[in-house]
Amino acid sequence: VDARPDSNGDPTLTTALIDAVGADDVLIDADLRSGYETDWTGRYGGPSMAVIRPRTTDALAAVMRACNDHGAVVIPQAGNTGLVGGSVPPAGQESVQDSERPTVIVSMRSFDDIGPVDRDAMQVTVGAGVTLARWQAAARAAGLDAPLDFAARDSATIGGAIATNAGGSRVVRFGTMRQQVVGIEAVLADGSVVGSLSGLPKETAGMHWPSLLVGSEGTLGIVTRARLRLVPRFAHTVTAFVSLKSIGDALDLLRRLRTSGAPLDAVEVIQPEALDLVVDHLGRPSPAAPPSATGTVVIVECAANHDPTDELVATLADASIVDTAIATDPRQREAMLEFRDRMTEAIAAASTRLGTPTFKLDVAVPLSALDDLLSEAEQAALDDGCRLISFGHLAEGNIHLNHLGALDPDRIARRVLGEVARLGGTISAEHGIGRAKAAHLHLIRSADDLRAQQAIKTALDPNAILNPGVVIETRER
Ligand code: FAD
Ligand code: MLT
Ligand code: ZN
Repeated sequence: VDARPDSNGDPTLTTALIDAVGADDVLIDADLRSGYETDWTGRYGGPSMAVIRPRTTDALAAVMRACNDHGAVVIPQAGNTGLVGGSVPPAGQESVQDSERPTVIVSMRSFDDIGPVDRDAMQVTVGAGVTLARWQAAARAAGLDAPLDFAARDSATIGGAIATNAGGSRVVRFGTMRQQVVGIEAVLADGSVVGSLSGLPKETAGMHWPSLLVGSEGTLGIVTRARLRLVPRFAHTVTAFVSLKSIGDALDLLRRLRTSGAPLDAVEVIQPEALDLVVDHLGRPSPAAPPSATGTVVIVECAANHDPTDELVATLADASIVDTAIATDPRQREAMLEFRDRMTEAIAAASTRLGTPTFKLDVAVPLSALDDLLSEAEQAALDDGCRLISFGHLAEGNIHLNHLGALDPDRIARRVLGEVARLGGTISAEHGIGRAKAAHLHLIRSADDLRAQQAIKTALDPNAILNPGVVIETRER
């Protein structure tokens, strides 16, 4: 993290920002700003002139107009749980131009209103600062559920999940955040307010703002509110912790589960080294016999309004399995799920002990290429001398590669992401490109494609004030 002193104070901009949101919501003091200036991993971050906390769409529009008029860089931030450096200022300036521009962080956490649940439409309108957990709680209080879930649920927000097109464990059933957004309101760089929150299931009426803004990582506009899809709340859930001999066996199991018609809600994967780490972190033994060094663990959840245990057990009986533990009791299920849910926390604790932040990659490849990718990633880690902790979302071929104590992260990234591209995969499955991977986007997008993306960005944000350097590199290479 950059240790430069506070930079870019601009008294006329400060006055305009105070006019927009009030003095209490313009945080200038270094102590008040510091928590916003470093990301969750501790790997990314840099200084800002101020943190602005707008509470209404009008106030945010006034903030954007002030920043646009002054050419100030705006970093949208909410839960600050993003893992690719997109929610914090850059450590070094992205370009000479940026070094002359003041930088403000716009915190969206105050947009925390939740509207009434519309049971007929199975939708709800929420503020962008509402956390995933509050979305889930609101849906459950109305007898429904939210289609998305992941471990950062208590801090990660709807705006952040939209901006990153977040995924998590239920994508196998309901898709990513992109599939959940049926309406959106956002403020553009010049303060214009765009979008619609009607949530009509059928409408063809020009530009579809959700399609444009989901996954745009705060580079095209700031999301203020969203109309979100809800799904049924199932009466029964069964969780299986399955130890297998190989990734090949895990993929066979996935195929069986899919073709059996079992009501799959999650199919997660934990590699042996990752299981060891989380077992140590939790101080509890693995629920099923741990796999050998070449094996793997798959956690399967099925959920339905009837008890799906027999269906799941029948499918597991046909598969080639080392050991299985099954839970239906909510407390036992939760204890089992902790081995997956608390993995990121276990990695963060290990990196704190090492005194160096983890180097994280979030990739996906076609299922047929998963074994090859894992072998290459393991070899790259071995060559670097770091410890590789891998786990993820099996059904989407989405693996999180966490390098503990990596000596040369750039070299690992070039090698592993190059291989991912060669295998027909993606360099970001669900965390986004952020600043961390902007230099690698060319591996999976053509020059024409990147130019067209830049043209859309320039049309909506001609002064490049919104998250410059995120997704599309601004630094000369
Ligand atoms: P932030 O971190 O504040 O911001 C993330 C990005 O969104 C930044 O580029 C920011 O500029 C932009 N942004 C934020 N709010 C807005 C807004 N209102 N309008 C426009 N842009 C905005 N991610 C997954 O997909 N799946 C997982 O399973 C998963 N598990 C996680 C587990 C842990 C323990 C942690 C720490 C993170 C995990 N993440 C996961 C990553 C992270 O939680 C998600 O990316 C989340 O969507 C970020 O939300 P946030 O509110 O924290 O956003
Ligand atoms: C997860 O699936 O737990 C996450 O995406 C978080 C991570 O990769 O650390
Ligand atoms: Zn994940």
